[in-house]
Amino acid sequence: MTFPVTRMRRLRATPGLRKLVRETDLSPASFIEPFFVVPGENRREPVSSMPGVAQLSIDRLVEECGVSFRMGIPAVLLFGIPATKDALGSESYDESGIIARAVTAVKESHPDLVVITDVCMCEYTDHGHCGIIKEGRVDNDATLELLARQAVAHARAGADIVAPSDMMDGRVAAIRAALDEAHFTDLPILSYAAKFASAFYGPFREAAESAPQFGDRLSYQMDPANAREALREVALDIGEGADLVMVKPALSYLDVIRAVSDRFDVPVWAYNVSGEFSMVHAAAERGWIDGDRVAAEMLLSIRRAGADRIITYFARAACGWFS
Ligand code: PBG
Repeated sequence: MTFPVTRMRRLRATPGLRKLVRETDLSPASFIEPFFVVPGENRREPVSSMPGVAQLSIDRLVEECGVSFRMGIPAVLLFGIPATKDALGSESYDESGIIARAVTAVKESHPDLVVITDVCMCEYTDHGHCGIIKEGRVDNDATLELLARQAVAHARAGADIVAPSDMMDGRVAAIRAALDEAHFTDLPILSYAAKFASAFYGPFREAAESAPQFGDRLSYQMDPANAREALREVALDIGEGADLVMVKPALSYLDVIRAVSDRFDVPVWAYNVSGEFSMVHAAAERGWIDGDRVAAEMLLSIRRAGADRIITYFARAACGWFS
């Protein structure tokens, strides 16, 4: 049937009709909000490259998590910035380290908020790499043991989900085994399964103080040119026991999100990363785009591509756009 019988504009005529034929739904429950935790008290240190985002001390973090939870955001993702960094990133698996204390405090005040912890070395190592350095290289197998210890420390502190983001081979299996041995058999793993070596992480590295001090992350994170390889990464992580998988970044990888969600039956999440957030703000500040509408459109595209949930710094603002 063609024009004039078919008129596509019929179903676009009123807000009510448009709402009824909307294919893609988002709501506050679709979003996970990331937070950066720093030592100290009553601290709120704005991240200059991420408008509205700040490093928070634990007391302020607990307050902010409460605000988000009341808005309907079901989960937060926590990144810890330690008081001191060293070659082994030892505060990352310290049971009284920054992230362990933060998790315990947040869960105490907001037991129903799902607390996810990022499991990685880069915020904790003085060299800023996501693993341990041996002979100038990130040593895969030596790193696994520390990641596993870190995950167990987060679990003991009360984390609901642990999320390894380091991209070492075999980390999901190592973490699963360590969690099981410590009797956390029911604690899920959210794997940053397809994580690309992306320039879109730039502002995050200011927020998390985690820029590599030499070299780059190309020997462990994925080449942005590769989509088939992403499917192998996801399959391996599921095979090792990942309960949920993530594609990261989101916007330049919508094809990967689509392929992963078509092919696998686990929940697929996408990380709308720092650079994707900051560039919207930068252009909006210049008056070049309507930042809110552009961001809402981006989030819809990520959902439309097949992401079940979206980790995003727009989470709170988006609650207003998609309530
Ligand atoms: C840690 C980690 C990074 C991000 C999340 N976890 C940075 C990196 O790999 O350099 C980036 C998140 C963002 O840009 O918002 N490995």
